[in-house]
Amino acid sequence: MQSKSESGLHVAIIMDGNGRWATHRGQPRVAGHRAGVAAVRRVVEHASDVGIRTLTLYAFSSDNWARPAQEVQSIFWIIRAFLRLECDRLRQQGVHLEVIGRRDRIPAPLLREIERAESATADGHILKLRIAIDYSSRTAIADAAIAAVTDPNSNQPLTSDYMRTIIAHALKANCGDVDLLIRTGGEQRLSDFLLWESAYAELAFTDRMWPDFDESDLASAVSDFNHRERRFGAIPAASAKPMYVVSGSAQ
Ligand code: IPE
Ligand code: IPE
Ligand code: MG
Repeated sequence: MQSKSESGLHVAIIMDGNGRWATHRGQPRVAGHRAGVAAVRRVVEHASDVGIRTLTLYAFSSDNWARPAQEVQSIFWIIRAFLRLECDRLRQQGVHLEVIGRRDRIPAPLLREIERAESATADGHILKLRIAIDYSSRTAIADAAIAAVTDPNSNQPLTSDYMRTIIAHALKANCGDVDLLIRTGGEQRLSDFLLWESAYAELAFTDRMWPDFDESDLASAVSDFNHRERRFGAIPAASAKPMYVVSGSAQ
């Protein structure tokens, strides 16, 4: 059985398959990104019903800059429109929005919208919604390590334990490690998403393309998660009986 914290689940989703969804319909890829917004709305609306307290959505990876400039521009435009149009609804739903990832390369109009939406939803306490934009997990970990070793206020010896604590803190691990990581679109890889935070995440891969993902897909992924046994390196409780020590065995 799962050992989710009292505060609820942290679910992370790699929202993949927008381009293929559109291509299969003879539409430009951007139509898939637009259709993906409705799926975001659905999962956000139903997340807390299935026990999710933190939802982290992968919207744009740092490697996605390698796409044609027009597609990148369209994605940013769609995210900006989403934030502008959904901000009030998010606030009414008790959502606290936060964007993770690099901010220095985000176009100014989108950055303004992000900051506006973050401050408008700062009091939300039903669901923490984290949207990853220009995000690379390896960069996030590297930045956290640099900050730790160059912190002039710290005279701590750089032990592994200290670095683990500092990096976890810098990665905003107060949201908790990822409990369940879902990837739509049929691929079975992490694509540089939440590598540290997913150390013990349960993984769920579905062939469903992101624009088709709905609340029943979310509910069934969470229900499947609820039947998994998470051991975190230990052994199942039922097996943890006292062991007979073989006489003469090493201590
Ligand atoms: C995910 O869908 C959205 C982003 C990466 C921005 P894709 O655009 O990767 O869709 P596919 O994988 O090409 O179908
Ligand atoms: C991962 O999807 C990034 C997002 C969903 C935002 P990609 O489509 O970019 O990943 P790869 O290239 O298939 O690994
Ligand atoms: Mg993809």
